[in-house]
Amino acid sequence: MRGLVRETTLSPADLIQPLFATAGTDLRDPIEGMPGINRYSIAALVEEAGEVLEAGIPAVLLFGVPSEKDEAGTGAYDDEGVVQMTVRALKEAHPDLIVITDVCLCEYTDHGHCGFVRDGRVDNDVTVELLARTAISHAEAGADIVAPSDMMDGRIGSIRYQLDEEGFPDTAILSYAAKFSSAFYGPFREAVGSAPQFGDRRGYQLDPANSDEAIREAKLDLEEGADALMVKPASHYLDIVRRVKDETGAPVAAFQVSGEYAVIRAAGANGWLDEQAAALESLVTIRRAGADFIVTYFAKEAAGWLK
Ligand code: PBG
Ligand code: ZN
Repeated sequence: MRGLVRETTLSPADLIQPLFATAGTDLRDPIEGMPGINRYSIAALVEEAGEVLEAGIPAVLLFGVPSEKDEAGTGAYDDEGVVQMTVRALKEAHPDLIVITDVCLCEYTDHGHCGFVRDGRVDNDVTVELLARTAISHAEAGADIVAPSDMMDGRIGSIRYQLDEEGFPDTAILSYAAKFSSAFYGPFREAVGSAPQFGDRRGYQLDPANSDEAIREAKLDLEEGADALMVKPASHYLDIVRRVKDETGAPVAAFQVSGEYAVIRAAGANGWLDEQAAALESLVTIRRAGADFIVTYFAKEAAGWLK
Protein backbone atom coordinates (compact mmCIF):
# COMPACT_ATOMS: atom_id res chain seq x y z
CA MET A 1 0.00 0.00 0.00
CA ARG A 2 2.88 2.36 0.70
CA GLY A 3 3.97 1.78 -2.87
CA LEU A 4 0.56 2.89 -4.15
CA VAL A 5 0.79 6.24 -2.39
CA ARG A 6 4.50 6.88 -2.85
CA GLU A 7 4.98 10.31 -4.42
CA THR A 8 8.51 9.99 -5.75
CA THR A 9 10.17 7.30 -7.85
CA LEU A 10 13.84 6.43 -8.17
CA SER A 11 15.10 4.25 -10.98
CA PRO A 12 18.43 3.63 -12.73
CA ALA A 13 17.00 5.64 -15.64
CA ASP A 14 17.20 8.76 -13.42
CA LEU A 15 20.92 8.39 -12.74
CA ILE A 16 24.12 9.48 -14.46
CA GLN A 17 27.49 7.88 -13.71
CA PRO A 18 30.54 10.18 -13.60
CA LEU A 19 33.70 8.53 -14.97
CA PHE A 20 37.33 9.72 -14.85
CA ALA A 21 39.26 9.26 -18.09
CA THR A 22 43.02 9.15 -17.80
CA ALA A 23 45.94 8.84 -20.22
CA GLY A 24 47.88 5.58 -20.31
CA THR A 25 46.95 2.00 -21.04
CA ASP A 26 45.25 -0.66 -18.96
CA LEU A 27 44.79 1.61 -15.97
CA ARG A 28 42.22 1.19 -13.23
CA ASP A 29 43.61 3.57 -10.70
CA PRO A 30 41.67 3.83 -7.40
CA ILE A 31 40.90 7.31 -6.04
CA GLU A 32 41.77 7.45 -2.38
CA GLY A 33 39.05 9.80 -1.16
CA MET A 34 36.35 8.03 -3.18
CA PRO A 35 36.43 4.33 -2.35
CA GLY A 36 35.05 2.25 -5.23
CA ILE A 37 35.77 4.93 -7.86
CA ASN A 38 38.72 4.67 -10.29
CA ARG A 39 40.47 6.62 -12.99
CA TYR A 40 40.28 4.55 -16.19
CA SER A 41 42.40 4.55 -19.31
CA ILE A 42 40.40 4.30 -22.54
CA ALA A 43 39.80 0.56 -22.96
CA ALA A 44 39.02 0.05 -19.27
CA LEU A 45 36.64 3.01 -19.30
CA VAL A 46 34.82 1.64 -22.33
CA GLU A 47 34.39 -1.65 -20.47
CA GLU A 48 33.16 0.07 -17.31
CA ALA A 49 30.71 2.17 -19.34
CA GLY A 50 29.34 -1.05 -20.83
CA GLU A 51 28.53 -2.30 -17.33
CA VAL A 52 26.95 1.05 -16.44
CA LEU A 53 24.71 0.88 -19.52
CA GLU A 54 23.89 -2.76 -18.78
CA ALA A 55 22.74 -1.71 -15.30
CA GLY A 56 20.10 0.52 -16.88
CA ILE A 57 21.88 3.87 -16.54
CA PRO A 58 21.43 5.90 -19.72
CA ALA A 59 24.34 8.33 -19.48
CA VAL A 60 27.88 8.92 -18.28
CA LEU A 61 29.58 12.23 -17.43
CA LEU A 62 33.24 12.29 -18.38
CA PHE A 63 36.07 14.09 -16.60
CA GLY A 64 39.60 14.15 -18.00
CA VAL A 65 42.80 13.59 -16.05
CA PRO A 66 45.54 14.65 -18.49
CA SER A 67 49.17 13.56 -18.16
CA GLU A 68 50.37 17.16 -18.49
CA LYS A 69 48.98 20.51 -17.42
CA ASP A 70 49.94 24.01 -18.53
CA GLU A 71 49.12 27.65 -17.95
CA ALA A 72 46.41 27.89 -20.61
CA GLY A 73 44.88 24.44 -20.08
CA THR A 74 45.57 23.44 -23.70
CA GLY A 75 44.76 19.78 -22.94
CA ALA A 76 41.12 20.78 -22.60
CA TYR A 77 40.69 21.71 -26.27
CA ASP A 78 43.22 19.32 -27.82
CA ASP A 79 41.58 17.10 -30.47
CA GLU A 80 43.81 14.27 -29.26
CA GLY A 81 43.12 15.07 -25.60
CA VAL A 82 42.14 12.38 -23.14
CA VAL A 83 38.41 13.22 -23.15
CA GLN A 84 38.22 13.61 -26.94
CA MET A 85 39.89 10.19 -27.50
CA THR A 86 37.71 8.53 -24.88
CA VAL A 87 34.50 9.98 -26.34
CA ARG A 88 35.35 8.59 -29.78
CA ALA A 89 36.01 5.12 -28.34
CA LEU A 90 32.86 5.23 -26.20
CA LYS A 91 30.52 6.25 -29.01
CA GLU A 92 31.99 3.55 -31.25
CA ALA A 93 31.59 0.79 -28.65
CA HIS A 94 28.26 1.94 -27.16
CA PRO A 95 26.37 4.09 -29.68
CA ASP A 96 23.25 4.13 -27.45
CA LEU A 97 25.06 5.43 -24.39
CA ILE A 98 24.49 9.16 -23.84
CA VAL A 99 27.92 10.74 -23.47
CA ILE A 100 28.10 13.97 -21.47
CA THR A 101 31.41 15.80 -21.11
CA ASP A 102 32.44 18.16 -18.34
CA VAL A 103 33.67 21.36 -19.96
CA CYS A 104 36.16 23.25 -17.78
CA LEU A 105 39.82 24.20 -17.68
CA CYS A 106 40.73 23.35 -14.08
CA GLU A 107 41.70 19.75 -14.79
CA TYR A 108 44.14 21.03 -17.44
CA THR A 109 45.65 24.19 -15.95
CA ASP A 110 48.82 24.00 -13.85
CA HIS A 111 47.39 26.61 -11.43
CA GLY A 112 44.14 24.64 -10.99
CA HIS A 113 41.73 27.52 -11.71
CA CYS A 114 38.71 27.03 -13.97
CA GLY A 115 39.85 29.76 -16.33
CA PHE A 116 42.67 31.67 -17.96
CA VAL A 117 44.63 33.62 -15.36
CA ARG A 118 46.01 37.09 -16.05
CA ASP A 119 47.68 39.19 -13.34
CA GLY A 120 46.53 36.76 -10.66
CA ARG A 121 42.87 36.92 -11.69
CA VAL A 122 40.70 34.69 -13.86
CA ASP A 123 39.95 36.56 -17.11
CA ASN A 124 36.27 35.83 -17.77
CA ASP A 125 36.09 36.63 -21.46
CA VAL A 126 39.30 34.90 -22.55
CA THR A 127 38.12 31.87 -20.59
CA VAL A 128 34.74 31.85 -22.37
CA GLU A 129 36.53 31.59 -25.74
CA LEU A 130 38.65 28.65 -24.54
CA LEU A 131 35.57 26.92 -23.10
CA ALA A 132 33.74 27.25 -26.42
CA ARG A 133 36.76 25.71 -28.18
CA THR A 134 36.67 22.87 -25.66
CA ALA A 135 32.94 22.28 -26.16
CA ILE A 136 33.36 22.19 -29.95
CA SER A 137 36.21 19.67 -29.73
CA HIS A 138 34.00 17.47 -27.53
CA ALA A 139 31.10 17.76 -29.99
CA GLU A 140 33.42 16.89 -32.89
CA ALA A 141 34.49 13.78 -30.99
CA GLY A 142 30.84 12.77 -30.65
CA ALA A 143 29.65 14.05 -27.27
CA ASP A 144 25.84 14.20 -27.07
CA ILE A 145 25.75 16.78 -24.30
CA VAL A 146 28.38 19.27 -23.12
CA ALA A 147 28.30 20.35 -19.47
CA PRO A 148 30.18 23.58 -18.68
CA SER A 149 31.17 23.58 -14.99
CA ASP A 150 33.30 26.73 -14.84
CA MET A 151 30.68 29.36 -13.80
CA MET A 152 32.08 32.13 -16.03
CA ASP A 153 29.56 34.77 -17.13
CA GLY A 154 28.16 34.47 -20.64
CA ARG A 155 29.63 31.08 -21.46
CA ILE A 156 26.36 29.33 -22.26
CA GLY A 157 25.40 31.89 -24.91
CA SER A 158 28.86 31.78 -26.43
CA ILE A 159 29.03 27.97 -26.46
CA ARG A 160 25.53 27.69 -27.97
CA TYR A 161 26.33 30.22 -30.69
CA GLN A 162 29.64 28.60 -31.61
CA LEU A 163 28.25 25.04 -31.57
CA ASP A 164 25.54 26.16 -33.99
CA GLU A 165 28.07 27.95 -36.21
CA GLU A 166 30.31 24.88 -36.35
CA GLY A 167 27.47 22.57 -37.37
CA PHE A 168 26.46 21.07 -34.02
CA PRO A 169 22.93 22.41 -33.49
CA ASP A 170 21.85 19.11 -31.90
CA THR A 171 24.56 18.99 -29.26
CA ALA A 172 22.74 19.80 -26.02
CA ILE A 173 24.02 21.93 -23.14
CA LEU A 174 23.64 20.83 -19.53
CA SER A 175 24.71 23.92 -17.63
CA TYR A 176 26.18 23.76 -14.15
CA ALA A 177 24.01 26.80 -13.51
CA ALA A 178 23.96 26.90 -9.71
CA LYS A 179 27.37 25.67 -8.66
CA PHE A 180 28.38 26.65 -5.16
CA SER A 181 31.84 27.28 -3.78
CA SER A 182 31.80 24.10 -1.70
CA ALA A 183 34.14 22.20 0.60
CA PHE A 184 32.44 19.03 -0.64
CA TYR A 185 34.52 19.03 -3.85
CA GLY A 186 37.63 17.98 -1.89
CA PRO A 187 37.95 14.34 -3.00
CA PHE A 188 37.33 15.31 -6.64
CA ARG A 189 40.17 17.83 -6.60
CA GLU A 190 42.48 15.13 -5.27
CA ALA A 191 41.23 12.76 -7.99
CA VAL A 192 42.06 15.12 -10.85
CA GLY A 193 44.76 17.24 -9.17
CA SER A 194 42.81 20.48 -9.63
CA ALA A 195 43.04 22.22 -6.26
CA PRO A 196 43.73 25.93 -6.97
CA GLN A 197 47.42 26.71 -6.37
CA PHE A 198 46.54 30.21 -5.14
CA GLY A 199 43.34 31.83 -3.91
CA ASP A 200 40.03 30.00 -4.17
CA ARG A 201 37.02 29.73 -6.48
CA ARG A 202 34.78 32.25 -4.70
CA GLY A 203 35.25 34.77 -7.51
CA TYR A 204 33.21 32.62 -9.88
CA GLN A 205 31.36 29.98 -7.84
CA LEU A 206 28.30 30.87 -5.72
CA ASP A 207 28.28 31.74 -2.02
CA PRO A 208 26.60 28.86 -0.12
CA ALA A 209 24.62 31.48 1.80
CA ASN A 210 22.80 32.71 -1.34
CA SER A 211 19.73 31.40 -3.10
CA ASP A 212 18.28 34.39 -5.01
CA GLU A 213 21.62 34.66 -6.77
CA ALA A 214 21.41 30.98 -7.77
CA ILE A 215 18.02 31.61 -9.35
CA ARG A 216 19.38 34.60 -11.29
CA GLU A 217 22.23 32.45 -12.60
CA ALA A 218 19.84 29.66 -13.58
CA LYS A 219 17.53 32.01 -15.47
CA LEU A 220 20.42 33.65 -17.31
CA ASP A 221 21.74 30.25 -18.46
CA LEU A 222 18.29 29.27 -19.68
CA GLU A 223 17.96 32.51 -21.65
CA GLU A 224 21.40 31.95 -23.15
CA GLY A 225 20.35 28.53 -24.46
CA ALA A 226 20.91 25.88 -21.79
CA ASP A 227 18.80 22.75 -22.31
CA ALA A 228 18.97 21.63 -18.69
CA LEU A 229 20.17 23.23 -15.46
CA MET A 230 22.33 21.61 -12.80
CA VAL A 231 22.46 22.35 -9.09
CA LYS A 232 25.62 21.31 -7.27
CA PRO A 233 26.23 19.98 -4.61
CA ALA A 234 22.87 18.26 -4.06
CA SER A 235 21.91 17.23 -0.54
CA HIS A 236 22.81 20.46 1.27
CA TYR A 237 21.17 22.46 -1.52
CA LEU A 238 17.75 20.81 -1.87
CA ASP A 239 16.02 24.17 -1.43
CA ILE A 240 17.90 25.41 -4.49
CA VAL A 241 16.88 22.33 -6.49
CA ARG A 242 13.25 23.01 -5.60
CA ARG A 243 13.43 26.73 -6.38
CA VAL A 244 15.17 26.22 -9.72
CA LYS A 245 12.55 23.63 -10.70
CA ASP A 246 9.58 25.76 -9.64
CA GLU A 247 10.88 29.06 -10.95
CA THR A 248 12.16 27.89 -14.35
CA GLY A 249 10.17 24.75 -15.20
CA ALA A 250 13.28 23.54 -17.04
CA PRO A 251 14.79 20.05 -16.76
CA VAL A 252 16.83 20.09 -13.56
CA ALA A 253 19.79 17.91 -12.66
CA ALA A 254 21.46 17.65 -9.28
CA PHE A 255 25.08 16.58 -8.76
CA GLN A 256 25.73 14.52 -5.65
CA VAL A 257 29.40 15.45 -5.46
CA SER A 258 32.53 13.63 -4.36
CA GLY A 259 32.37 14.83 -0.74
CA GLU A 260 28.74 13.79 -0.36
CA TYR A 261 29.68 10.36 -1.67
CA ALA A 262 32.76 10.14 0.57
CA VAL A 263 30.79 11.01 3.73
CA ILE A 264 28.29 8.18 3.19
CA ARG A 265 31.03 5.73 2.16
CA ALA A 266 33.23 6.52 5.15
CA ALA A 267 30.44 6.29 7.70
CA GLY A 268 29.27 3.06 6.07
CA ALA A 269 32.78 1.57 6.17
CA ASN A 270 32.98 2.36 9.88
CA GLY A 271 29.64 0.74 10.56
CA TRP A 272 28.24 4.08 11.73
CA LEU A 273 25.34 3.95 9.30
CA ASP A 274 23.79 1.59 6.78
CA GLU A 275 25.51 2.67 3.59
CA GLN A 276 22.98 1.27 1.13
CA ALA A 277 19.98 2.71 2.98
CA ALA A 278 21.67 6.08 3.41
CA ALA A 279 22.70 6.28 -0.25
CA LEU A 280 19.23 5.38 -1.54
CA GLU A 281 17.60 7.80 0.91
CA SER A 282 19.87 10.61 -0.25
CA LEU A 283 18.97 9.87 -3.88
CA VAL A 284 15.20 9.66 -3.47
CA THR A 285 15.16 12.89 -1.46
CA ILE A 286 17.11 14.69 -4.19
CA ARG A 287 14.40 13.50 -6.62
CA ARG A 288 11.68 14.62 -4.18
CA ALA A 289 13.20 18.11 -4.13
CA GLY A 290 12.59 18.35 -7.87
CA ALA A 291 15.60 16.89 -9.69
CA ASP A 292 14.68 15.15 -12.94
CA PHE A 293 17.99 13.31 -12.92
CA ILE A 294 20.96 12.90 -10.60
CA VAL A 295 24.67 12.72 -11.29
CA THR A 296 26.03 10.41 -8.60
CA TYR A 297 29.09 8.25 -7.98
CA PHE A 298 26.65 5.70 -6.53
CA ALA A 299 24.89 5.30 -9.91
CA LYS A 300 26.07 1.84 -10.94
CA GLU A 301 25.86 0.41 -7.44
CA ALA A 302 22.46 2.01 -6.75
CA ALA A 303 21.13 0.51 -9.99
CA GLY A 304 22.05 -2.91 -8.58
CA TRP A 305 20.32 -2.16 -5.26
CA LEU A 306 17.19 -0.94 -7.04
CA LYS A 307 16.80 -4.18 -9.03
C1 PBG B 1 35.41 21.42 -12.16
C2 PBG B 1 34.48 20.54 -11.44
C3 PBG B 1 34.44 20.26 -10.07
C4 PBG B 1 33.48 19.29 -9.90
C5 PBG B 1 32.92 19.04 -11.15
N1 PBG B 1 33.54 19.84 -12.10
C6 PBG B 1 35.27 20.72 -8.94
C7 PBG B 1 35.51 22.11 -8.62
O1 PBG B 1 34.78 23.04 -8.99
O2 PBG B 1 36.52 22.30 -7.95
C8 PBG B 1 33.14 18.66 -8.59
C9 PBG B 1 32.73 17.25 -8.69
C10 PBG B 1 32.76 16.53 -7.40
O3 PBG B 1 33.20 17.02 -6.35
O4 PBG B 1 32.31 15.38 -7.45
N2 PBG B 1 34.93 22.63 -12.58
ZN1 ZN C 1 36.67 23.90 -13.17
